[in-house]
Amino acid sequence: MRPTRNTAPFIRIAPWHISFAWPDAPSRVYAQGSTALDKSPFYRAFYVQGTESLFSTHNRALHSSKRPLLSQPFSYQSIHGFESFMRESLGRFVLRVDRICSGDQFGDAVRAGGVMDALLWFNYLAFDIISDLAFGEPLGMVNKGSDVLAAESKDGTIFEEPAAALIDQRGRTAAVVGLVPIVEEYTKMLPIPFITAGGFIRVWKLRVAFPESLSRIATRCVKHRVESGVTRDDMLKRLIEGMREKEGGRVSQEEVVTEAMLLLTAGADTTANSLTAILFYILTHPDVHAKVVAELNSVNAGVAVFNSRPQALRLQSSIELKTITDSLPLYEETKSLPYMNTTIEEGLRLFATNAFGLPRVVGPEGFEMDGVSVPSGCEVSAPAYTIQRDPRI
Ligand code: HEM
Repeated sequence: MRPTRNTAPFIRIAPWHISFAWPDAPSRVYAQGSTALDKSPFYRAFYVQGTESLFSTHNRALHSSKRPLLSQPFSYQSIHGFESFMRESLGRFVLRVDRICSGDQFGDAVRAGGVMDALLWFNYLAFDIISDLAFGEPLGMVNKGSDVLAAESKDGTIFEEPAAALIDQRGRTAAVVGLVPIVEEYTKMLPIPFITAGGFIRVWKLRVAFPESLSRIATRCVKHRVESGVTRDDMLKRLIEGMREKEGGRVSQEEVVTEAMLLLTAGADTTANSLTAILFYILTHPDVHAKVVAELNSVNAGVAVFNSRPQALRLQSSIELKTITDSLPLYEETKSLPYMNTTIEEGLRLFATNAFGLPRVVGPEGFEMDGVSVPSGCEVSAPAYTIQRDPRI
């Protein structure tokens, strides 16, 4: 169904930018292939130390040449094959959360009385899973109960920074700066708390120092993998194989590192934010919560048996981690649970991690949608929040 004209389904949000809240706007504005529109200068704010990645490049030829590198690791077969690695991290996460709920005050994001910051803990989980798959080893955040990693500044000073929190702030600041790129230089001087204390100055430090520290971990892992000949079947292996194929047997370690880091920075906080929102919606709707739990119990026999053991016995057992990991349901068992999967999709619809419209530039042929023409050089976007919440769509 289409919105009617009197509800202004398109709006000029800047002199050069039209935002379309049409039902088919996402497929038109973000089309792939020959009708794809170029990414706008907005994405420059996401360059890491001046380097563009598959995500931030607005060079379409570069994007097309890099994309096949990621199509293999993202195939259904590959993701399915990664399940055992994900289950290990998930088992550690469930064990920690179980202990916190039993009163353990463990890690940076837990307060007395079993109160935990779900967003930070989902970040630890997502960072551990993606680093395990893309770097070949988990960053160990769940085990430490912390996202603090060592970073090194240009003068060699070692300092510690909360990786997940900074990547989140970096995304927010880059989104603001990206929309108005000319303010970038001035933002450092503005006395706005979000930009100074919480945001840009720390983000500036992050831009200079933190990616170096993460990329050093990634570089060490990639080098070790290429030289050792280890054949663990994860995203890193697929990236290296893709690179060999693309470059006729040669592997550019730098390019593998850049893409491995992209997976971590693009995939971790988006996943953690979405998981937190879905959990929030479930917990604030007791009827939904009860139905999801009932449906999960139908496949979760292992966890039910584990949970029925006395708390003290559960937490003292030396084989606890393995027991928990083994008792987690498999994807095969959960993939067709109708109520749980619909709940997840509904949570993703209500909470759009990238809520505003990501901007694209209109090419020489212009852009036309339902009678609205946008000339070449202007920007268009489709706002996820509005489109996903419009009852008529
Ligand atoms: C619920 C979780 C996620 C959400 C909401 C999300 C959202 C998005 C969106 C909206 C884009 C398009 C950005 C644009 O065109 O400007 C994107 C691109 C991308 N995402 Fe995600 N993402 C999620 C999870 C992940 C994960 C887990 C990974 C990797 C492990 C990942 C890797 C990427 C990459 C590499 C791109 C760039 C693709 C390209 O330009 O061809 N994302 N994501």
